[in-house]
Amino acid sequence: MVVTRRLPEPVEQELVRLFDARLNPEDRPLSPAELAEAAGFADALLPTVTDKITASVLGVEPLRARIVANFGVGYNNIDVAAAKAVDVAVTNTPDVLTDCTADLAMTLMLSVARRAGEGERHLRSGSWTGWRPTHMLGTKVTGKTLGVVGLGRIGRAVARRAHHGFGMRILYYDAMPVPAEEVASLQAEQRSLEDLLAESDFVSLHCPATPQTRHLMNAATLKAMKPDAFLINSARGDVVDEAALVEALRSGTIAGAGLDVYEGEPSVTAELLTMENVVLLPHLGSATSETRVAMGMRAVANLEAFFRGDPPPDRVA
Ligand code: DGY
Repeated sequence: MVVTRRLPEPVEQELVRLFDARLNPEDRPLSPAELAEAAGFADALLPTVTDKITASVLGVEPLRARIVANFGVGYNNIDVAAAKAVDVAVTNTPDVLTDCTADLAMTLMLSVARRAGEGERHLRSGSWTGWRPTHMLGTKVTGKTLGVVGLGRIGRAVARRAHHGFGMRILYYDAMPVPAEEVASLQAEQRSLEDLLAESDFVSLHCPATPQTRHLMNAATLKAMKPDAFLINSARGDVVDEAALVEALRSGTIAGAGLDVYEGEPSVTAELLTMENVVLLPHLGSATSETRVAMGMRAVANLEAFFRGDPPPDRVA
């Protein structure tokens, strides 16, 4: 098995204990050629969001890999159709990162509304001259309306925090059915995307990256938001047209944004770095020790089941 990046120590220990695992002590992303070589050499790959498991990686001949056990719930880094075509199983690591990712979405929402990043920069630069009634006034979060795009596991966890913790009214847009008891406990109201954007004070994205959701937030949909509203993205960078977002932030089409993910990670559109009304984090959604260990153990469980001949618990293809 080839493990593409360093993983938390307990996970690496478990992988070495259970499998003939080739780790990546340098922790640098493998090149497409190295990934293809790995697919030809190892019976399993354990990649992360930074590894593109493309049709050409899976097209290597002879192909030895039989399973791609992704370290992450999102698996848009894997060409699932190509994997199916060559009979390679694909698994992910759901559930264990739901709470931490939801916590981070709340962090972004609170930080951008209450100008936390800007305030910290102000203080650290030595510019703070003391408390005054008109200093750095932000926007109240409690009691506002949150529009959740994608009311799946993470979207629901965000909505629970926002509704039960911050008394927010929850609107949601989802193409998939949502369990009725969840909708009832959140008092969530279903909307079309257009209506959700027009009514929400905060719009938080929690949909997967698919061809259908690519640039879901573009010049037109950003314009449909209220001018005093904030966009939060802890899903995938592709869901937002970053150039259109820059323009919307510059022109006051929306009030601000909290971003954890970017179209061309790790590069970030330069203008965003200069804007005070944006909070920018480096893809930290699941980045807690507890969660990263749990994600690794979930990948281990998928691999163990697969090689035992049982259905992997988190098989997505
Ligand atoms: C996930 O699990 O999808 C995180 O974004 C890391 O890939």
